[in-house]
Amino acid sequence: MQGTQQLLKVFVTRRIPQEGMRVLNQSGLCKVSLWDSDEPIPRTDLLQGVSGAHGILCLLSDRIDAEVINAAGPNLKVISTLSVGFDHLAVGEIKKRGVRVGYTPDVLTDATAELTVALLLATARRIPEGVEEVKNGGWSSWKPLWLCGYGLSGSTVGVIGLGRIGLAIARRLKPFGVKRLLYSGRTSKPQAAEVDGEFASLDRLVSESDFVVVSCSLTPETQGLCDKALFSKMKKTAVFVNTSRGAVVNQEDLHEALSSGRIAAAGLDVTTPEPLPTDHPLLKLKNCVILPHIGSATYSTRGIMAELCANNLLAGLTGSAMPSELAL
Ligand code: NDP
Ligand code: DGY
Repeated sequence: MQGTQQLLKVFVTRRIPQEGMRVLNQSGLCKVSLWDSDEPIPRTDLLQGVSGAHGILCLLSDRIDAEVINAAGPNLKVISTLSVGFDHLAVGEIKKRGVRVGYTPDVLTDATAELTVALLLATARRIPEGVEEVKNGGWSSWKPLWLCGYGLSGSTVGVIGLGRIGLAIARRLKPFGVKRLLYSGRTSKPQAAEVDGEFASLDRLVSESDFVVVSCSLTPETQGLCDKALFSKMKKTAVFVNTSRGAVVNQEDLHEALSSGRIAAAGLDVTTPEPLPTDHPLLKLKNCVILPHIGSATYSTRGIMAELCANNLLAGLTGSAMPSELAL
C-alpha cells in the first residue's frame, strides 16, 4: 500500500459493475472518484471531475475530446473506456498529448453476436408484432397469410464489416442453413474462409443479400454509409440489421425505405441519438424493431468488461503493458 499522498487520482464517469471497482479499490494505487449514478454525467460535472486526474475510466456515452483532456490537465496518463467502440474518443488529440487508451475488445464479441442473431430473427420473423397481437386481441385464429416473415434457410447474408463481431455473427448464422455469406470492408479477411465468406463490393453485397447485417466500426468513412442510395439497391424483401453504431445509418433514409416498402424490415440495437426520443418516427413502424443498445448486456460480459477496463487503467497508470491497449 502506498501512502495516501502518493495515490493517483482516477475518475470513473458512471457506476460500473463491482468487478471493475474491486480491481481499482484493491490495487492500492489509486484514489477513485466516482460519478455515483446510473445516468450519464453532465458535461460540467465531467469537466470538473477529471480535473487533476491521472486516469479516466469512461463510457461510450462520454465524449472525450480536447476540452476534457485540457480539464484533466498534465497528470493525465490513461483513458480506459468500457467499450470496444472508441468513436467517442478524440484519438488524434489523445495521441498528441501522449495519453494511452485502453478498450474492451474480444470479451464482448460472443454476447454482441448472440444479440445480433436474436435481433435478426426477431425482426425477420416479426416476433415483437406477434407478441403484441397476442396481447391486444389481434390473434383471432391460425391464419395462413398472417404474420409471415423471412427465414434464413437457403438465404444470402451480407455482413458489412467482418471484424471480431462480424465473424462471430457469421459463425452463428451459418448453421441456420445460410447458403451464401458475403462480406464487405476495406480489406479481405483470411479468417472469412471459416464461414465460406466471399469478399464483395458494398454494391454487390446489398443487391444480392436477403439479410444485411452492419457490424463495422464507426469512422468518418462509415458515417452515414447506409443511406438512400444503399437502401435503393437492396431487395424489396431485405431485412436490415445494425448493431454497430447508429451514425452508420441515415435514419431518415431508413424510415423512407421502411415506410415505402423499399425494404422489408429493420432491426436496430443502436440509433442516433441514444436514447431515441419516444416520439421518433421509426418507433411508429411495425417493420422496425429497436433495442436500447444492449448488444453486450449479459451480467457476465459486463463484469468481465469492467474488470478488463480497470486492469487497462491500472497498467496505464503504472506504465506497464495493458491487457487491451488501443493502438493510436
Ligand atoms: P473490429 O475492429 O474487429 O471490426 C470492425 C470492422 O469494421 C473491421 O472488420 C473493419 O474492416 C470494418 N470496417 C471499417 N471500415 C469499414 C468500411 N468502410 N466498410 C466496411 N467495414 C469497415 O471491431 P469489433 O468487431 O470488435 O466491433 C465492431 C463495432 O461494433 C464496434 O466498433 C462498436 O461500434 C460496435 N459494437 C456494438 C455493440 C452493441 O452493444 N451494439 C457491442 C460491441 C461493439 P477492415 O479491417 O477491412 O477495415
Ligand atoms: C461497445 O463496446 O462498443 C458497445 O457498444 C457496448 O458494449
